[in-house]
Amino acid sequence: SESPDGRPIKQRLLVVANRLPVSAVRRGVDSWSLEISAGGLVSALLGVKEFEARWIGWAGVNVPDEVGQKALTKALAEKRCIPVFLDEEIVHQYYNGYCNNILWPLFHYIGLPQEDRLATTRSFQSQFAAYKKANQMFADVVIEHYEEGDVVWCHDYHLMFLPKCLKEYDSNIKVGWFLHTPFPSSEIHRTLPSRSEILRAVLAADLVGFHTYDYARHFVSACARILGLEGNPDGVEDQGRLTRVAAFPIGIDSQRFTRALEVPQVQEHIKELKERFAGRKVMLGVDRLDMIKGIPQKILAFEKFLEENPDWHDKVVLLQIAVPTRTDVPEYQKLTSQVHEIVGRINGRFGTLTAVPIHHLDCSLDFHGLCALYAVTDVALVTSLRDGMNLVSYEFVACQDSKKGVLILIIKASLRPRLGHGLSPRCRLSESELNDTVIEAQQRIRKVPPQLVFDDAIRVYLQSKNRLLILGFNAALTEPI
Ligand code: G6P
Repeated sequence: SESPDGRPIKQRLLVVANRLPVSAVRRGVDSWSLEISAGGLVSALLGVKEFEARWIGWAGVNVPDEVGQKALTKALAEKRCIPVFLDEEIVHQYYNGYCNNILWPLFHYIGLPQEDRLATTRSFQSQFAAYKKANQMFADVVIEHYEEGDVVWCHDYHLMFLPKCLKEYDSNIKVGWFLHTPFPSSEIHRTLPSRSEILRAVLAADLVGFHTYDYARHFVSACARILGLEGNPDGVEDQGRLTRVAAFPIGIDSQRFTRALEVPQVQEHIKELKERFAGRKVMLGVDRLDMIKGIPQKILAFEKFLEENPDWHDKVVLLQIAVPTRTDVPEYQKLTSQVHEIVGRINGRFGTLTAVPIHHLDCSLDFHGLCALYAVTDVALVTSLRDGMNLVSYEFVACQDSKKGVLILIIKASLRPRLGHGLSPRCRLSESELNDTVIEAQQRIRKVPPQLVFDDAIRVYLQSKNRLLILGFNAALTEPI
């Protein structure tokens, strides 16, 4: 449609995600500063341009007082964001508990914590109750801001009850739900005590989206096996009502990165980094410090490389940016200590008075700093054990137009086509080029039994203009081969 002066009117979109694109830091009773939030969901959605979008979500802080809430609401309004205020107890039970201690590990095939396998424990019951309560709180804020005709786009595993809450309020609201993580096989999903209720709540949406065809297929088969509902090529049908299910691989706004490389401060920073690491190949990892990212495995592989190649000791450096995340969840605390211990050991073993092999930073970098780092990197290592759609691989390639470094990306075989999405045409590989590269990679590592090479999460893939570098992991992903 058009406005009276002929300009197209954009469709209004309410994006609802647990995490707002900005996180708030309190500076005073009524003053706040806002920082870009970490994570793939935020990076991906920053590229949504065709809609008049408003974002509804949690600002990542507890704000118990009315003065603080009012001031934060005002500051967020300038960014077209609307806060959902969650108190400490809800955050503990819903976010740290049900979302990040139960759903996240389960959806990445890590499984449920031992004590939660029987839904009878009080902690599981109260976390699930808090999860539903939190979803209702998000729904209440959506409804407060909803205008007829708006499309409501719900995101991720935190908000699987939201479609149901919204449809119960008004069945005419157009609701989409998109998952930014893998959706596991029905054999895994059926180990979740609240499996049926969760599936039914998601099915209340009109359209359900996943990154890949496999995840969509797993969802449809979970509905068939757990709920007894028939799937068809368009989705899942229940009593004559169809929920459409489809794969929508997400990408990045690659021009945002290429434009950043032209900014004078970024060029200056690139120059400094080149001088700082002159004579050494730069390997880079950029991850949230999460159990699914394979950070210990990556660092152990690097240790093995140093062990076997003494000539390289002073010629290579690994920069690992490990963005702290979910720091109140015990599993994440354990991982942080484990990574620190390994890095300390390796630097102690191979460091000299003037140089260490690993620079490990527990922090995020600002956007320009990150682009500069991508631009000077020789080898980027993306070694997730499972991941929804890792965007670091895209971001690195987007910043490598002049350098042509190497991307080492460990992926599941069926995710191969995703490499073609989200990149600028210059960076995109056709399916046949992709196959050629993979075949070449397989030939070079023919010492490895084929089933190991093709096996589920053991995929070695990389692409560069003329160079091919292989890094493989064994089946348990514990030791490099
Ligand atoms: C993943 C999830 C997102 C989440 C992000 C950061 O990308 O899919 O929903 O926002 O991690 O995690 P956090 O818990 O800090 O929001």
